[in-house]
Parts: sequence; structure tokens; C-alpha cells
Amino acid sequence: MPTTEANDQRAEQLRAAMVEAVASEADQIGRPLSPAVRAALERVPRHEFCPGASLEAAYANDIVRYEQNERGVSTSTVSAPNIIATMLDQAGIGPGMRVLEIGSGGYNAALISELVGPGGAVVSVDIDQSVIDRASASLTAAGFDSVRLVCADGSKGAAEAAPFDRIIVTVTCADIPPAWRDQLKPGGAIVAPLRLRSMTRTVRFERDGDRLVSTGYDFGGFVPGQGGMAFDERAVFLDEDGTGLRVDSHQPIEPESMRAAIETDPVTVWTGAEVTPTTIWNDLELWIAAWSQNTAHLKAATQARRSGRLKTIIGLGSITLYNDRNLAFLTLRDEPRADSDHYEIGAQGHGPDAEALAERLAALVRDWDACARGKEARITVWPTGASSALLPAGLVEERPCSRITVDWPDA
Ligand SMILES: C[S@@+](CC[C@H](N)C(=O)[O-])C[C@H]1O[C@@H](n2cnc3c(N)ncnc32)[C@H](O)[C@@H]1O
Repeated sequence: MPTTEANDQRAEQLRAAMVEAVASEADQIGRPLSPAVRAALERVPRHEFCPGASLEAAYANDIVRYEQNERGVSTSTVSAPNIIATMLDQAGIGPGMRVLEIGSGGYNAALISELVGPGGAVVSVDIDQSVIDRASASLTAAGFDSVRLVCADGSKGAAEAAPFDRIIVTVTCADIPPAWRDQLKPGGAIVAPLRLRSMTRTVRFERDGDRLVSTGYDFGGFVPGQGGMAFDERAVFLDEDGTGLRVDSHQPIEPESMRAAIETDPVTVWTGAEVTPTTIWNDLELWIAAWSQNTAHLKAATQARRSGRLKTIIGLGSITLYNDRNLAFLTLRDEPRADSDHYEIGAQGHGPDAEALAERLAALVRDWDACARGKEARITVWPTGASSALLPAGLVEERPCSRITVDWPDA
């Protein structure tokens, strides 16, 4: 058998396994893949978009890293198929649509191209010419010549090719520029990974006059935006092993008092509220941020977790309340409740007044459990000039181009 044929066969097998992995993850979080997105994942040869990567790496249901900045932070990747698939399903792309992708790589543009079909159009904008060159070579090699690539700052959208039925942003942003709203067709939608208080949610927005209002959101992170989409974030390290708090840079925080706080003995307040291993934390974290002055995310180094000193939630870390001398973060019981897979949520506090802050966090969890569990937040992007009298109660974040609110109309 010629080598290329063997290679193609291997790629097909690996692609089928990747699609299965993406589909089963989607099932687990209760958002099954649509047949259209599944078919696109099956058809697009991801390895053609991952130059230099092995077939195994190209089909590992993970990101493949390319460009990085001077601090070694990835600035361009071929995004993970599971996150891309979720966003494509959130967007609901159909045949004949005009779609703008912000943040190129080639792979997602090829999937969108499959979804819009020959009657649709795909425009993909990236700020980095080397990414455009890589995407262009990959799209040509894989036979997706109709995708239009533009090297520009995506914060301005792509006025020359507007209007669009859908705008999909594959780079994390902390603001939603008005150009995106203005370049939508009536009935159009934007799906963008929005950073709010150190959390990212891929939010689907629809236009309502001069506002954009969410119609759903999910977990999902991307590389941080550059140029007009750049935003500031801080990591405050609390020990030498890498335990750290992630905060938005405009949030006031005293690193020394946070370091002193985690040295104190923990105080844990249990809430009576429970989660299962498949509970989505999406809403609870937003709820806590919405009703608190200062929140951050605490990621404990492996050693601190293993020793049982900082019992944070594994993975992305625990949402954390902090004040001038104390911090309190979400934790879980080590064992599930008898005969179930339900784990009680707790609040672990540190600092001279740890108990009061842990109690405050526990009260927020109980409120969520009583009145907001299972209800989605509404995320609204208002023009900067919107009067405060119009804004709902909840989180209000001021951004250069907008005022962003998070509230619960049904809670
Ligand atoms: C995660 S990658 C996109 C992956 C891609 N969509 C794929 O198919 O896998 C994010 C890209 O966003 C680009 N980017 C960052 N800031 C940008 C901006 N302001 N305008 C346009 N592109 C930007 C980066 O250069 C990077 O290539």
C-alpha cells in the first residue's frame, strides 16, 4: 500500500475517533452535536490545518499551538474541536448564510464553509499575517478555496463584506465592539468568548435595537485578543509553586495580604447545596460574580491541593471572593452523599475574618440553589451612553465600547 494511502486511512480512522470523542463530550454536558456540525467535523481533514503536527496530535480533540508572544503565551492556535463544535451549534449556521469569523486558523473556516454550502460565504479576519498565510495554504490544500481571508484588526469587523448572518469570534474578548452589532443582518447572531471577571463564556447574542442580548452561553476559552481586542488580566501568585489568583486588571487587590491570608488556617462553611459530577458551573459562577464586589479565580498548585490545604475545584479553579485581608473560595466535600453522586458545595475561607467571608460566599450559593439553579443569566451589551437607570440589578462591567450587564430576569 503506498504511504500516502496508508496515511489517508490512518487520518480517517483518527478523525472518526475524534468525532466520537467530541460527540460524547457534547452528550455529557447535555448539548448533543447537531447532525450538520457532526457531518462537517467528519468531512474536514483537520490534519491539513495543523502543519508540523503528527496525525495523532491533529486528531487529539485538543488545541494545536502555533504563534506565541515574548512571554511564551500562545497567541495563535488551531482551536480545540469540542469548543469549536459547541460554538458552531450555538451559532446555528445554515446553508446560504454569510458568516464572518474573527481569528483565523483555517480549520473553523472550513467547517463553516461546509455548513453554509456553495450558496453561502465565509470571511475570516486575523490580525497576524503569518496566521493568514498558514490558513491560506491549509485551506487551499484541503480544497476550501472560497473562504475569503483578510489580514486586519477584527475589532472593526469586515465592513467591506458586511452584512453577516452570523459573526463567530474565536479569540477571547472583554468587550463587544459596536461594529459587530452594526454588521449583523436583521435576525443575525454573534457568538463570542466574552471575558467577565476572570471567567470566559462563549455567549450567543442577538440584536435588540442598540443593545445585544444573550440567547445562551457556554464554557470555553481562547487565546487572548490583540490590537483592538486586547484586554488586561493579572495573575497574583500566592506561593512559589504557582498557586495564583486570576483577576481583571482594573480590580483592586493587595497581593501581600492575599499571601498572608492563605497562610492562615482554613474555615469551611457548608452550604447544603449539592452538585453532581456533570453539573455545569456556568451559572453559579456568574451568579456569585453578579452579587459581589470583588471576585477572582483561585488555581491551587498540585502540591497545595494534594496536601489538602487549598481544596479548590479541579480544572479551571475556584471562583473566589476577596476583600482587603481575606479570601473565600468554592470547595466540595471529598465524598458524595451516601448512595448518590451528589457532592455538597462549601466555602473555604482564609484570613483574619475568614468566617464572615466564607459565610457570605455560602449564602450566595444557597441563594442560587433556591432561586436561580437551572436558570440562565441574561448578558446584555449596552452602548456606553446607556443611562444607569435602564440597567438591571446585577453585575455591571464598564468597557471601552460598552456597558455589560449580567442579570437573571427569571430568578
Ligand atoms: C485561537 S486562534 C483562532 C483559531 C481558528 N479560528 C481555528 O480555525 O482554529 C485566535 C486568532 O485570533 C487572532 N487575533 C487576535 N487578536 C485579533 C484581532 N484583534 N483581530 C483579528 N484577529 C485577532 C490571533 O492572531 C489568532 O490567530
